[in-house]
Amino acid sequence: MALAKLVGLATFAVAVANAQVTGTYPATPLASKTGYTYPTGIPYKVDTDTGLIRGQQAGYNQCNSTTENQDSLCQTSFINGIDDFCLWAPIEPNSVVGNVEGEMVAWCTKPGRGTRLIPDGALQGVQFMKTPDYVQVVGFIDQEKINMQPDDYGGEMDPHGADLRGNPMGGIIFSQGFNGQWTQVVEWHNFMGGNAFCLKACDPSKPDDKHYCEHRLDRIGCAYNAPNAARNGTFESCDGDNQDFPGVYTVNGAVMTYSQPPEALGPITTMPYTARVPASSNCVQHTSAVIYTALPGATGSASSSGGSSSRPTGSATGSAAGASNTSNSGTKVSVGIGMASLISMITALLV
Ligand SMILES: *[C@@H]1O[C@H](CO)[C@@H](O)[C@H](O)[C@H]1NC(C)=O
Ligand SMILES: *[C@@H]1O[C@H](CO)[C@@H](O)[C@H](O)[C@H]1NC(C)=O
Ligand SMILES: *[C@@H]1O[C@H](CO)[C@@H](O)[C@H](O)[C@H]1NC(C)=O
Repeated sequence: MALAKLVGLATFAVAVANAQVTGTYPATPLASKTGYTYPTGIPYKVDTDTGLIRGQQAGYNQCNSTTENQDSLCQTSFINGIDDFCLWAPIEPNSVVGNVEGEMVAWCTKPGRGTRLIPDGALQGVQFMKTPDYVQVVGFIDQEKINMQPDDYGGEMDPHGADLRGNPMGGIIFSQGFNGQWTQVVEWHNFMGGNAFCLKACDPSKPDDKHYCEHRLDRIGCAYNAPNAARNGTFESCDGDNQDFPGVYTVNGAVMTYSQPPEALGPITTMPYTARVPASSNCVQHTSAVIYTALPGATGSASSSGGSSSRPTGSATGSAAGASNTSNSGTKVSVGIGMASLISMITALLV
């Protein structure tokens, strides 16, 4: 999120809350609040700041059987595997991510943690990847089923944001994917939009977690921040090599670093590189109806029968979370940001 956005939000927050605003930045940035342990070492709210320009944390972090329903405001999220992850998505139906990124809540594939559940049939293709330095999930989703406007190209959530309170504010993520123990993920990024998503959670025990989970390249989407070979209609888990750090690329042996231009300079219409998709191995294919067995119907009523009713087999096309069409051929979709998408997204961000 850029500064221009913050000014917009400031106006919004003041207009809506009409509260006494005494500052912008929290005493402790969200990314520095790292001592939490799951399940018992979590405060009711991670963000207790008051009087700041973006208002208060929308939800809570202590989530349990009482909070587990489709109105949950749980902002504690998880990523463990293809059958067990959460995405940040809006509280209210028909939302635009750019307007509510500070208030997103956890939508998960697995019950038992006090969150909302991603409705049955919403997930259309998912690739889970474990690498030496992070775990990542990339996929295709009918985003209207998780309260996003169908044509929203969305944006990036991460524990930073222009005011360091994170998007969502107070949002935290845990994973058992690094060493088997519940671990708070310090650096992560989650792009949602264009009926696609990517979420990367970086291993906090590794020195480069902030680089793999870079949060500054919010306008160039999954294809550059989480380059992948996820395919619509396919559900698979793989091991993989690490990506390059987002924004870092090599041309004729020279290592280059991309700088995202300021929004004031207008839409990003060209990119000087295509991000390398790292090698993967040990890919195991899954059937969605077998791995997602407890998801509610799209209306939000909790029904634990059946799981996914259909396994999409549609062929991949070039559109997704703002799709870049450049890094893969044919049936592989690189979930990223294309030109049209960028323009929409930037327009949304500038509102
Ligand atoms: C469940 O979580 C809610 C919201 O954080 C909290 O208010 C409530 O006390 C919790 N209930 C139990 C039994 O822990
Ligand atoms: C993924 O496939 C489904 C089913 O064919 C299709 O409806 C959807 O539009 C596709 N999503 C993307 C982003 O291409
Ligand atoms: C993808 O690339 C091909 C070839 O460069 C181009 O013809 C096509 O229009 C592109 N599709 C999208 C969705 O950008």
